[in-house]
Amino acid sequence: MQRRNFLKSSCNICLLGAAGFALPKLTGCSPALHSTGVYKATIVGNALEIPLALFENTSLQVVRPLGWFYDIAVEKRANNTYAALLMQCTHQDNQLTASGTGFSCSLHGSQFDKNGNVLKGPAEDPLRQYKTTIGKSTLTIEVPKTP
Ligand code: FES
Repeated sequence: MQRRNFLKSSCNICLLGAAGFALPKLTGCSPALHSTGVYKATIVGNALEIPLALFENTSLQVVRPLGWFYDIAVEKRANNTYAALLMQCTHQDNQLTASGTGFSCSLHGSQFDKNGNVLKGPAEDPLRQYKTTIGKSTLTIEVPKTP
C-alpha cells in the first residue's frame, strides 16, 4: 500500500513538472506561419517599443500589447521600413491569422493582403495601420490606448 501511494504521488509530481515545462512554450505559440512567436509588449503613453533584433531571422513579428485583445503584425519590408497592422477583422472584429501572404479570418473567410487591403470579403474596409518610427535598437509603434 505504501509503495502504491509513493508511485502515485511520484507520477503526479512528474505530470506537474511536465506541465510547468510545456506551458510557457505553448503560450508562446504564434498564429503566424512565418513569425518566430508572439512578442508581448507594454503600451507606454501612446506607443509600444519592440527590439529591432526581433527581425534578425524573420520579416514578420506578431506583437501582443498587454491589455489588448488583438495582436499587431509588424512586417519589415525590403526598403528597411516597417508596417504595423492591427489583426482585427474589419467585418465583425475577429482576431486574424497571419500567413506569409497576408491575413485571413476564420469566422467568415475574409482575406487581406500584406498591406491590409481586402482581397476577399465579406470585410470591406482595410486593416488599421499604425505609424512606426525606427530608433537605434528599437521600433516604436504609435497606438491608441485601446484598439
Ligand atoms: S469577422 Fe472576419 S470575415 Fe466576418
